[in-house]
Amino acid sequence: MEEKLLFRALLFLLLSTSSVVAIWPERSPPVAVARRAALENGLGRTPQMGWNSWNHFACNINEDIIRQIADAMVDSGLAKLGYDYINIDDCWAAYDRDSQGNLVANPSTFPSGMKDLADYVHGKQLKLGVYGDAGSRTCSNNMPGSLGYEEQDAKSFASWGVDYLKYDNCNDQGLSPQPRYINMSKALTNSGRNIFFSLCEWGVNDPATWASSVGNSWRTTGDIQDNWASMTAIADANDKWASYAGPGGWNDPDMLEVGNGGMTTEEYRSHFSIWALVKAPLLIGCDIRSMSNDTKEILSNQNVIAVNQDKLGVQGKKVQQDGDQEVWAGPLSGGRIAVVLWNRGSDEASITASWSSIGLNASTIVDAHNLWTDEVTSSVQGELKETVDTHACKMFVLTPK
Ligand code: GAL
Repeated sequence: MEEKLLFRALLFLLLSTSSVVAIWPERSPPVAVARRAALENGLGRTPQMGWNSWNHFACNINEDIIRQIADAMVDSGLAKLGYDYINIDDCWAAYDRDSQGNLVANPSTFPSGMKDLADYVHGKQLKLGVYGDAGSRTCSNNMPGSLGYEEQDAKSFASWGVDYLKYDNCNDQGLSPQPRYINMSKALTNSGRNIFFSLCEWGVNDPATWASSVGNSWRTTGDIQDNWASMTAIADANDKWASYAGPGGWNDPDMLEVGNGGMTTEEYRSHFSIWALVKAPLLIGCDIRSMSNDTKEILSNQNVIAVNQDKLGVQGKKVQQDGDQEVWAGPLSGGRIAVVLWNRGSDEASITASWSSIGLNASTIVDAHNLWTDEVTSSVQGELKETVDTHACKMFVLTPK
């Protein structure tokens, strides 16, 4: 309690001397709490970036596709921008364990085995992720789950050179999730390899409130679908957990749909901008071997990626709503503020972000960097006003002078 009071007093002193007004402190303490309780495996100091097979391929995966995706990640330049995890989702393993109870790769689709694949991916300076389940079978029912096999499976993952585990929650046998996720977390810690732990229990048991000491990220929602209604609903559902995210542990509103074809380019730009602002994992979900120029341009925007990877690690939030016109914002390192003006309505609209709602003193003058056009407007004061197309957004970083 005393520690908490001291913390608040220090924070007050700090903020009363800066241009950031007291809107963020109300949100900041839980971040500090989450930091203290974070899983100390040194991973996820910024949200994870990479690719996952599920949104585009579902169960139609094989080792050739995974190798080609790793090649494309490097050849497209995405790897250099920070996308380094190549994550295989459900359906990579054989239906049955071997005679010693070990998980084995599906012999028809992954005949070379997981160690071979990990070596290939590591040879490209990338990392390999796999998928497992905290129940008796995985969600597609195609693979064995790890319930009761946590130590053995974690050791298998480590021996293959796996760097990331997404851990789902189907066929839970009526058991509560916390102990099962904690068991796998401990098993990974004891496995002899540092493995990123991504919890996937769809936000059902409010994992934001307990998972920061268990894993490096936790899903806050059900599965995203490749359409505007799903993406916007998921952004809203994830928003209420903002204060629980921080370096080492992130809210996960599910993987990106950018490039899968169900949304317009502007809708995908909104999707990517909001995911970046809210410190969501940036896990590409399309087939990057054949992505369009528009898709590549969105996924490659270094300004937007830098907001997501900012070392302060504070999740941005919806701070203003006027019908379908919204302002989302969050603090960045160096006293800067990231802002998204988001028009969710069906007509072009004017959106004004007032300094008071984004956490700046009224007198503060900023340079406004438009992250999508790369233009900088100098000496903006009091508010930021822009016209925004339907289902589009404009994203800025404001730097106080
Ligand atoms: C779901 C999960 C998805 C995907 C799928 C695979 O439970 O939320 O992201 O992993 O299972 O079966």
